[in-house]
Amino acid sequence: MTDLFLDTAIKAARAAGDVLIEGRKSDIKVDQQMRRDVKLEMDRKAEAAIVGVLQGVFPDHDILAEESGLKGVDAEYQWVIDPLDGTYNFFRGIPIWCSSIGLRHNGEEVLGVIFDPCQNEMFYAQKGEGAYLNGRPINVSNIATLAESTVAVAYGPCELFLERMRAGVNNVFMECDKVRGLGAAALHLAYVACGRFDAFFEYGIWPWDVVAGNVMIREAGGEVSMLIREDGMVEICASNGRIHDELMPLIEWE
Ligand code: IPD
Repeated sequence: MTDLFLDTAIKAARAAGDVLIEGRKSDIKVDQQMRRDVKLEMDRKAEAAIVGVLQGVFPDHDILAEESGLKGVDAEYQWVIDPLDGTYNFFRGIPIWCSSIGLRHNGEEVLGVIFDPCQNEMFYAQKGEGAYLNGRPINVSNIATLAESTVAVAYGPCELFLERMRAGVNNVFMECDKVRGLGAAALHLAYVACGRFDAFFEYGIWPWDVVAGNVMIREAGGEVSMLIREDGMVEICASNGRIHDELMPLIEWE
């Protein structure tokens, strides 16, 4: 792949970061508040910034974005965008959120950029070219047993998955070293890729939460199990690979 894909995705992520950092200084406008979820004006503004940069360079590519949905269905390339992952954290003033930009080529996940402007951490990866954090190569952890592992989890907003998640988290909690939840799926994946966490699982999330992170995990030497349901929702378990077989039977994977 040419550097133009990566450079443009990084530029788009930085553009969203600027919008979001500036936006958190003023009153946060709520578009929609639901049970366990919230949609903000800032989600839309950050998405417009990302889409503007990407479309300026790649006007013929398709886009699947959290706020505006699907634009185009037949291009070779499709950008998959979560402009503000961790919206609820942003809303509550918790500085743990990011933008996530993935790219699929004929359906295959080939590039990922995850930018956390609060920490100034730019994670990126391209298929076959390794994974990086602020220019330095990253790798998954070497932890080989669940008993030594830190596992990231999340309870997404969708009722359908709450019981399974609760059971899975309980099982894992009893066997692992630590359970953590940051409230931003893309950051969970980036943190597995760079070895801060050893695994992450969640049910009932969306492609825009995971495409970028999946590329990162694979390029950092980890393993991803993913199911895309008929309704488009995703079930994911990503790990350093070494603990994957021990983890899967515990997490109520279907
Ligand atoms: C959400 C976050 C959260 C996860 C939800 C996602 P959003 O994304 O990643 O951690 O539990 O399933 O939908 O709405 O903040 O972009």
